[in-house]
Amino acid sequence: MVWYERAGLAPDEAAREHSHRLARHIDEVLTDAGGWLDFARFMELALYAPGLGYYAAGAVKLGREGDFVTAPEMTPLFARTLANPIARTLASLDGSGEMLELGAGSGQLAFDLLLSLQQQQALPTHYWIMEVSPDLRSRQRDRLAELPDDLFRRVSWCERWPEQIRGVVLANEVLDAMPAQRLRWHDGRWYQAGVARMGGHWGWEYRWLEDETLLEGLPDMTGYPDPYDTEVAPVVEGVMATLASSLVEGRAFLIDYGFPAREYYHPQRSGGTLMCHYRHHAHGDPLVLPGLQDITVHVDFTRVAQAARRYGLRLEAWAGQAQWLMDEGIVEHLESLHRAVPVDYRQLGAAQKLLSPAEMGELFKVLVVGHGSESQAALTALGLGEEEPNGSGDQASEG
Ligand SMILES: C[S@@+](CC[C@H](N)C(=O)[O-])C[C@H]1O[C@@H](n2cnc3c(N)ncnc32)[C@H](O)[C@@H]1O
Repeated sequence: MVWYERAGLAPDEAAREHSHRLARHIDEVLTDAGGWLDFARFMELALYAPGLGYYAAGAVKLGREGDFVTAPEMTPLFARTLANPIARTLASLDGSGEMLELGAGSGQLAFDLLLSLQQQQALPTHYWIMEVSPDLRSRQRDRLAELPDDLFRRVSWCERWPEQIRGVVLANEVLDAMPAQRLRWHDGRWYQAGVARMGGHWGWEYRWLEDETLLEGLPDMTGYPDPYDTEVAPVVEGVMATLASSLVEGRAFLIDYGFPAREYYHPQRSGGTLMCHYRHHAHGDPLVLPGLQDITVHVDFTRVAQAARRYGLRLEAWAGQAQWLMDEGIVEHLESLHRAVPVDYRQLGAAQKLLSPAEMGELFKVLVVGHGSESQAALTALGLGEEEPNGSGDQASEG
């Protein structure tokens, strides 16, 4: 018996059949590719193969019925607090700013944000959602259709980035879901991890790394444990290039779990950051349960910030989620919860989870890039302090 069966979480017949269909599809691609798929390609197929991948098909993913819970699913306090800096950004554009949310999940963040922004009289003229998953797009549409008409009318879905955005771009837990390469340092050289068939199942096969560009941003490995596994996500380069060319005014809020490069590639993190989520169990094996589990890697925020700056955006702020939410006023929202009768202990528990250093408070980070002033403190924290500042930056943070 495997662990998910022992835990009473064996997929039902329909889920098993779905998973087999995706496995057959991956096998066909694997065969066409000569019997080996680099991990990023495997991850892309497992999550996004049209009609079959985890995000591309029908099962519930987010929330208690699904596999994992994100901050906006836990409590509206997250969106209400995020609404403050978004409202300031939109106000600085004289009320003509738009929003673009990437990967909107169940639509809950958009739902709560639009209500909060309405309360602050700071609605965007338009709320775009770019979502790769057709299944999630239709769930988002259902959820957002429950908004008052005036708000729902502002929402539309787009297939690709709008050519120009003046306003706010938002991505919560999206960068971690983008395909990443897995690398192994062993015996004084780098290998690239890939997936191959081994008997009746998939296994890891390591090949000498040929694409040396994957090593950009990685440290000198002298003194590192052997073997040392890690991940790199070159895809963020393209995402930041597109963001920079689209966001002509305003800023982007990128929220996710991750570290600066010096912690990401720390000698003690020798197992990498690859993580899978199935029915609220986190584990490290992406080769099981294809199509039924989420596969993620933590975000190397130094890489993201560096790429954003390379394409002309400024690093306005970077902070741990707890600190950032407190700076942006979550405490006032909490106080009003405490004053309410009866006290909503579920909301208070969720807020505790968002803020606790042992839960999401420190692992999750908020990166703000845009056209404002560059924050020297953020540059230093991300190990970019020595680099030539981009534009006329000063010490200020995002404002
Ligand atoms: C972990 S979920 C987070 C959902 C939501 N933002 C939240 O916080 O609840 C990741 C989301 O990103 C979407 N996604 C992944 N890659 C994407 C991409 N390249 N462009 C747009 N959406 C993407 C997924 O389909 C999914 O909606």
